[in-house]
Amino acid sequence: VLSKAADLEANAPAGAFVQEVTSVQHYTDRLFRFRMTRPASFRFRSGEFVMIGLMIDGKPLYRAYSIASPSWDEELEFFSIKVPDGPLTQHLQKVQPGDAVLMKKKPTGTLVNDALVPGKRVYMFSTGTGIAPFASLIRDPETYEKFDEVILTHTCREVAELQYGIDLVNETKNDPLIGELAAGKLKHFTSVTREDYPVKGRITDLIENGRLFEELGVPPLDPAIDRGMICGSMDMLRDTKALLEKAGLNEGANNKPAEFVVERAFVG
Ligand code: A2P
Repeated sequence: VLSKAADLEANAPAGAFVQEVTSVQHYTDRLFRFRMTRPASFRFRSGEFVMIGLMIDGKPLYRAYSIASPSWDEELEFFSIKVPDGPLTQHLQKVQPGDAVLMKKKPTGTLVNDALVPGKRVYMFSTGTGIAPFASLIRDPETYEKFDEVILTHTCREVAELQYGIDLVNETKNDPLIGELAAGKLKHFTSVTREDYPVKGRITDLIENGRLFEELGVPPLDPAIDRGMICGSMDMLRDTKALLEKAGLNEGANNKPAEFVVERAFVG
């Protein structure tokens, strides 16, 4: 299933770029990230997703992946789950530097700064691989131009699954380009649901019982100043969205910016 980028380039499927994997890092038996080359002509807005694929039995198979790198990065980064019998991820988890990955040409998505009306504080609520679009957004200077405070929440089943986000936030705060911007504004809140951890519980419970705001030292959600972006499983989206609506925030879209936006973390 895996082929070298150089070998596949001559037979690129229609409408797709053939890119080359540059690095791979495995975090747990369920999670890994990879980086690959970026086509010179490929433009996207931080927070968007794109279709990523491999040639399987002679045919391209694609799944939606949020781009985890910011729009200024010369490479593209993705954060992926590994599903033992997942049609794409059972193969994708084996990629090595030099291997080919297919990417369709058009990025899209609603987790973009343009879909939010201006505010003071933005919450990026994520579970599992739902952190990926926020990995892009917290490395984009535009996010810090738009908001005084950027709160990234990440909840996982197990402690080891938080590591990608912890590394990411450290790297972001030490980045020569955006480190200074992020250092004063970016806050990382983590919780775990199935192991012992200083903060235990689902993000929805921590919003409802006020623990999130207590830990952060901020007032409860206020539609006048707070904005939200949500990325996780369908159930997590539904339940988090209901809490934001209860607090008086409205859902926005690219053509109709409002107080919060939602997107499913795709590959499951
Ligand atoms: P839990 O362990 O209680 O199921 P998953 O990998 O299944 O997407 O889960 C990632 C994280 O999201 C887990 O910590 C999980 O908690 C949590 N989660 C699952 N469903 C919901 C939901 N409806 N609302 C909020 N968090 C959820």
